[in-house]
Amino acid sequence: MTAHPSVRGDVAVLVPAAGMGVRLGPGAPKALRLLRGEPLLMHAVRRVAAAPSVGCIVVAAPADAVDDVAAMLRPLSSPAVRLLVVAGGASRQASVAAALAAVPEEFGIVLVHDAARALTPPELVETVADAVRGGHGAVIPVLAVVDTIKQVDNSGVVVGTVDRSVLRAVQTPQGFRRDVLTSAHAAAVDEHTDDAGMAEKLGIPVHTVPGSEAAMKITRPFDLAVAELLF
Ligand code: CTP
Ligand code: MG
Repeated sequence: MTAHPSVRGDVAVLVPAAGMGVRLGPGAPKALRLLRGEPLLMHAVRRVAAAPSVGCIVVAAPADAVDDVAAMLRPLSSPAVRLLVVAGGASRQASVAAALAAVPEEFGIVLVHDAARALTPPELVETVADAVRGGHGAVIPVLAVVDTIKQVDNSGVVVGTVDRSVLRAVQTPQGFRRDVLTSAHAAAVDEHTDDAGMAEKLGIPVHTVPGSEAAMKITRPFDLAVAELLF
């Protein structure tokens, strides 16, 4: 595929940030927990806003924190990057759908990026955006799986060993032509843990690009400790 130069501002990024962070333990909603003194969401949005392709960021915040989150993120908005905050929903999927509904008409490329992947480098945002701009309707960043993976039965006994070479761990940002993401969400009947899963259901080919270790999802206390060290 030929290289496609980044076009300033043709990409909207949805940032689902309305989760409670149950696996991180008791405390504020995960996106508002601190990493080196700053909420995870600030770290995530700052890095997304630094990607030259990005012209709009729509954050889905916890419903009772929309105004506070908008005030918190205001310093990160600029003439080049418009920042919108909407109320998220009861599931990640509902939060993404709410953010998608708020994307201004002019954006034809839409990325979805977890607030919990707070240290994702702007370069990964560009790589995904470039692949969509280059003609792929759905794009995901992936990493090879390093652990041996086994299938087990209900009692925990091993059924078999899965061929690791064909497996990938999937990250965000996931990128889509806007019409692809819209139809994927419109067609979804059950809950999906990522947006590409909905596109797959529609039979849309999902292209992969190399992910980044720094785009790790902060899920458990151990991940937060790792992120503090990585910072
Ligand atoms: N998310 C969201 N709305 C929800 C649930 C999740 O916007 N109702 C967001 C989270 O804020 C996070 C991303 O989706 O940025 C990935 O979800 P996950 O890592 O599972 O975060 P939480 O749901 O907050 O964590 P947990 O599942 O441990 O409660
Ligand atoms: Mg969750």
